[in-house]
Formats: sequence, structure tokens, C-alpha cells
Amino acid sequence: MCGIVGYVGRGGSAGTLAGPEGHGALDVVLEGLRRLEYRGYDSAGVAVITGNGIESRKKSGKLTNLLDELQANPLPESLTGIGHTRWATHGGPTDRNAHPHLADGGKLAVIHNGIIENFAELKRTLSAQGVEFVSETDTEVAAALIGELFRGEAGGDLTRAMQLACQRLEGAFTLLAIHRDQPDTVVAARRNSPLVVGLGDGENFLGSDVSGFIDFTRRAVELGQDQIVTITPDSFEVTDFNGKPAQGREFQVDWDAAAAEKGGFASFMEKEINDQPEAVAQTLLGRAGLDGKLQLDELRIDPSQLKAVDKIIVLACGTSAYAGQVAKYAIEHWCRIPVEVELSHEFRYRDPIVNANTLVVAISQSGETMDTLMAARYAQEQGAKVLAICNTNGSTIPREADAVLYTHAGPEIAVASTKAFLAQITAAYLLGLYLGQLRGNLFTGQIRDILADLAKVPAKIQTVLDDSDQVKKLARTMADTRSVLFLGRHVGFPVAMEGALKLKELAYIHAEGFAAGELKHGPIALIEEGQPVFVIVPSPRGRNSLHAKVVSNIQEIRARGAKTIVIAEEGDTAVQAYAEHVFYIPETPTLLAPLLATVPLQVFACELATAKGYDVDQPRNLAKSVTVE
Ligand code: F6R
Repeated sequence: MCGIVGYVGRGGSAGTLAGPEGHGALDVVLEGLRRLEYRGYDSAGVAVITGNGIESRKKSGKLTNLLDELQANPLPESLTGIGHTRWATHGGPTDRNAHPHLADGGKLAVIHNGIIENFAELKRTLSAQGVEFVSETDTEVAAALIGELFRGEAGGDLTRAMQLACQRLEGAFTLLAIHRDQPDTVVAARRNSPLVVGLGDGENFLGSDVSGFIDFTRRAVELGQDQIVTITPDSFEVTDFNGKPAQGREFQVDWDAAAAEKGGFASFMEKEINDQPEAVAQTLLGRAGLDGKLQLDELRIDPSQLKAVDKIIVLACGTSAYAGQVAKYAIEHWCRIPVEVELSHEFRYRDPIVNANTLVVAISQSGETMDTLMAARYAQEQGAKVLAICNTNGSTIPREADAVLYTHAGPEIAVASTKAFLAQITAAYLLGLYLGQLRGNLFTGQIRDILADLAKVPAKIQTVLDDSDQVKKLARTMADTRSVLFLGRHVGFPVAMEGALKLKELAYIHAEGFAAGELKHGPIALIEEGQPVFVIVPSPRGRNSLHAKVVSNIQEIRARGAKTIVIAEEGDTAVQAYAEHVFYIPETPTLLAPLLATVPLQVFACELATAKGYDVDQPRNLAKSVTVE
């Protein structure tokens, strides 16, 4: 939530006002904001230091409104700047509430991601001292506080002013500040909100994540909690809030700017759906040895501790939680360890039973979801080990976890998650197989066979994508639909819920996913003539197949007028008699079927929302990375 960018450059040769490679601060900041807009699109703003001091432009609405404003009222060239794209918390999405906020008589500009919980109290104190506020935001209060401290106790040192301010701020925040009197410096602070440093040559960068500067450098530094970083063109210095020197961890970003482009697709969403064969392949890459054994040395948890685990709790939100629910079926089956899947925001408020033998698996694409971060911390405090399944290097959850399994799906820009979901399931399956291997629940031959089946999944996803024209055609005919239901059983149940979530968030259509077995316990009352119902039908193969039961469910709703749309395995002709539409997916073992069955549901939601004229990359009210509770 909220994207932030900072830049400072040394300037080119011959005294030109452009960084070493010809970068001006405004260009860098705007490029960063373009990449980070998925984090919030209620308003956008920039501030730069020019010969006249701080100059700022900001505008409510999407970034394009700010670009129009800059066209009408251009800013002079500069070597130091900050930029912000907002997901509103305190104060509506107006021009006035947009960041940056100015203080110290317009000499200081501040941007912020997060929520400052004690802002009301600070505001009262500052108002009593004569400070006047023009917005309803908590950010302006932080700016005023930094301004007061800069002029007073910090003796004109911006880093010191930031340290002192952070000692008084409560809540979650990333703050960036520039001051006219220190024109070649950007100071940033973070507590429970994301911030990464980008290292250039004669220029340095700050971003909410690496996409904020990926066009300029792939060298990045991850920061810890409660740290402050001061960047100049040639240096970066990290301290804690008390000014004690600290260190960040440098890493190389393993994708480039091209991976964060649409690559010829109409939207990031469509591109990312089509990235899925590669995303799953990348998650599997290098993790299976030639001997058929899994190699997850990266896990960093002592194998003896993993052997002692007697319960797994998966913590996640939204789509990531559905990935956890899919994984539960596989991990329990393979490892015989009980797996609970819990929404992160519910977990720590219910006195959960957690101890040193509990393995908590925190699943998060962004690695920044505040609910999951807080839940994982709580679990660690209770003595549990936390293993993160994450897609974003340099983010907080994997940094704080005891172990991490990266999904390597590449940057996910569209707000609604697609390829991260399949990669999360794949990574959780690798974890399950590894635990099964370690604890002796699975023989090498079994693991080799499952890995071989997993290795075939990317090509099968490609087949589903290649065959998706009929799904798209159907979606386009359903633009006026008001409600869609999704039914599934076993691993098909979380797939049904994911299908419903995609439709809600992209097409703003009421949608619900149910366990097919639950139908007769209530939801069947919703069925009336013409009600569209997607049914994810399990493979008819296998001893314990639930195929016959799900087919009975289809008959029951069909008899009551439902329009049934079925996802079934190739060759399953039995479903044709009861379905208005059947979309086939290639044969695959039951536990791997979610990696295929989800894809037509994603395509359906994306196409239907597009047919309704909606922006599938930036659905209303949502933000990619939910960094507030
Ligand atoms: C839905 C979606 C969200 C996220 C959820 C968790 O399409 O994207 O439900 O899955 O906000 O986000 P992460 O995985 O970043 O923790």
C-alpha cells in the first residue's frame, strides 16, 4: 500500500543537471512511480530540490493525472527527488491529502507509507506550538514533527531529525524526507513497512520494492526493522532509531526491467496468467537432485528441528491462504503431519496453540502483508519456527523468518494474484515432499515420481492457456451476470474459492466458492433458473475419486435450473450430459490438478472484467501489498 521512490544523483560531467547516466531526479522518480503504481492509485505526487528550494506537484487519482499536471506546470531539473503513489488511509483521496507534505516553511518534503497511530496526540501538541495543518493526513503530522526537530534539537541535520522523530512515532511507517538545506541527501526510515535501497554509480535510490528502481540498477540493499538510511550520490549509511550504525544486506535482483513490462499483452494480468508455465518451472528449478532427492539447503532450519515438527500452521491472506489450503491436502497426505490453515489476521487474536514443535508456514507473494508479518512474529514469540514462502526478495517476512523458500515467479504487477498462486502451491508442495523425505514418510521413488509429475505441469498449463478461447468467448457473453457460484471438493474447494475471489475483485460481481459437499446444507437455496455455477470436477481415475459425488452435485443444481460450467479432466465424457459448457484440462494426478484447474477461472475473470471495460490491473479499492492491518 502506497508506493514510494527516492533518488539522489551526483550530476553529469560539465556540470549538467542530470545524473551520471543523464538521469534527472524527476525522470527517475516518475519511472519508479509508474512501476509502483500497483501499490495504490488514489493519488500521486513528487517533490524535488531545485535552485529555488523544494518544489512539489501532486494530484488525486491515477499517476496520469500527475503527469498532466506536470505537463501544465513543469518542474525544473533536479538531482534529488521523492515520489509517492497513495492508497488512502487517513483522509480521502484528494489533492490536498496527496503526498508529499511540506513542513518547516516549505523547506522540507515528506512522503509516507503506513499508519502513524499516535498522530492525533502529536497533532494536538504541534498545534499547541502553533503549527498549522492543511490536510487530514497522519503524514503531515510526521512531516511537521521532523521539521520542528530539524530546526531545534537536531541542529539542522536531517538524519538526526528523522531518528528523533521515529523515536516518537507509533505504528507502521516508511518515511522519506528531503530538505532544502541538505540538497544532496534523501533520508528514509522504516518500521513494519517496506523499504529497499538501490545502489548506482554516483547515484542512489530508494523504493518500496526493487521495481521502484529496476530500470536503473539491480544492486539492492535490504534493511531491517526500525532502521534509518541516508543516501547521497556516493554513499548510503544505515543506523537504528538511536543513531547506532547498522548494516543492510546487499543482494542482486534476479529479474530485469523487461520482466516488469506487459510484453505485448493488453494488461499485466493477462501477461501474468500467461507467465504461469514459466513461473511454475522457475519454482521447481534446481530443487530436485539427479538422484531423485529434493535439495532445499536454502531452508536454513536444522533438519532435526524439522523432523520434530508435530503440527504445521499455514498463515496467509486472500489468494495466498487458498494456496495454503490446497497445500494442506498434499502435506497431510505425504507427511502425516496435521496442517491448519489460518487467515493471518485471525490467528494472533485467538490464543492459538503454538510451541517449539510447531512449524509456521507464512505464505506471502509480497512478503510485506502486515497481517501475515504480525502473525508470524507472534508465532515466533511463542517459540515456533517460521518458514516463509515468498516471491519478493528483500521483503520483510522472509527477512524475519527462520527459513525461506522463494517462489521465483518473477514480479507480479497486476493487483490480483495469478502466477504467484500457482508458484506458491508448487513451493508448498516442494516443502511437503522435503518434509516427507526428511521424516521418512515418502520413499525416494515416490518423491521422484511426484517430482516427475510436477515437472510436466508447466507444459500442461500451456495447453490450458492455448485452449482458452472458448473460456474467453463464454466470459464475453456473461458481462451482465450479477452472481456466479463456484463449487469444488477436496483440492477443488480452494480452487473454487480462488475462482470466486478473482471474479469479485476484477469484475465486481458477487461470487462465492463452496465445498460441493456443503451444497445441500444451505447454498443450494441460492440456485434458481439461469444461475451460473462453475463446478471443478475431480478426475474420475483413482480409487478414492470423488468424481461420482461431484457429478451428482451437478445433477442436483442442474435440476433446479443452474447453468453449469464444468472444468473436468480430458476424456471425462460423463460430465457432458449435465453441463452447459465443459472446459477440459490435461490429465494429472489429483493433488496437482489445482495447478491446471485454476487457469480457466483466471482467464474467465480477466476476460469478463475486460468486457465490462474495467481496469484488470488496478481494480477499485485494492492495492497490491497490504501493509496496514
Ligand atoms: C487476490 C490477492 C490478495 C493477496 C493477499 C495476500 O488476488 O492478490 O488476496 O493474495 O492480499 O497478499 P500477499 O500474498 O502479498 O501476502
